[in-house]
Amino acid sequence: MKISASFLGVPNIGQTLRRLNVTDVDYIHVDVMDGKYVKNKTLSFNEFKEIPNYTRKRLDVHLMVQNPLKMIDNYATLNLAYLTVHINIKDNLEKIFQKCQTYGIKVGLAVNPKDDISIVFPYLDKIDLVLIMSVEPGLPGQEFIKSTLTKIDSLKDEIKRRGLKTLISVDGGITLDNVKYLKDVDIIVSGSTITKSPNFQDTIKKLRA
Ligand code: DX5
Ligand code: ZN
Repeated sequence: MKISASFLGVPNIGQTLRRLNVTDVDYIHVDVMDGKYVKNKTLSFNEFKEIPNYTRKRLDVHLMVQNPLKMIDNYATLNLAYLTVHINIKDNLEKIFQKCQTYGIKVGLAVNPKDDISIVFPYLDKIDLVLIMSVEPGLPGQEFIKSTLTKIDSLKDEIKRRGLKTLISVDGGITLDNVKYLKDVDIIVSGSTITKSPNFQDTIKKLRA
């Protein structure tokens, strides 16, 4: 299980990124919100492009935006591990996959808590990762939605049945207590559990334990 640390909602992004850089966290999860797909709005690419000045970790970019297609050229210039868009957006998903392919970017599709997990099944052989949202997208520090666990199981079964290599990532509300249910997912995204703790490395170690 890999860990992707989200800095959403922290008071000092630069300082948080520097502190994460000296941990063994696998990726930095960059939550991008446009104020349309979700109510909130985060910094724009102009600010996010400064991230490599604070950390050498690879970025796991999560675009909670209605029109990600036009943003890919920009984000492709960063040190990307994954670029994830939501499945129910305005832009054409095939065009997004094509663009990511030309850049050699690994692409993910995110599924919201209200959506049935089977909506992602037709895309499983075209993407690298499924990001299962375990909270409503938009805010850090929300409570983990338990029905996510059944979704993970169905998705795992489908991936196995078809002999695919698609990774499963889970995002939102993960705590030192509920992480035990997520041991066999490929990547967990953790925000507040890490960033609100006094010792980031110690918390990351506990999440992995
Ligand atoms: C929610 C974001 C998550 C969230 C994670 O919209 O996509 O990445 O910030 O934060 P925690 O772990 O605090 O739920
Ligand atoms: Zn996220």
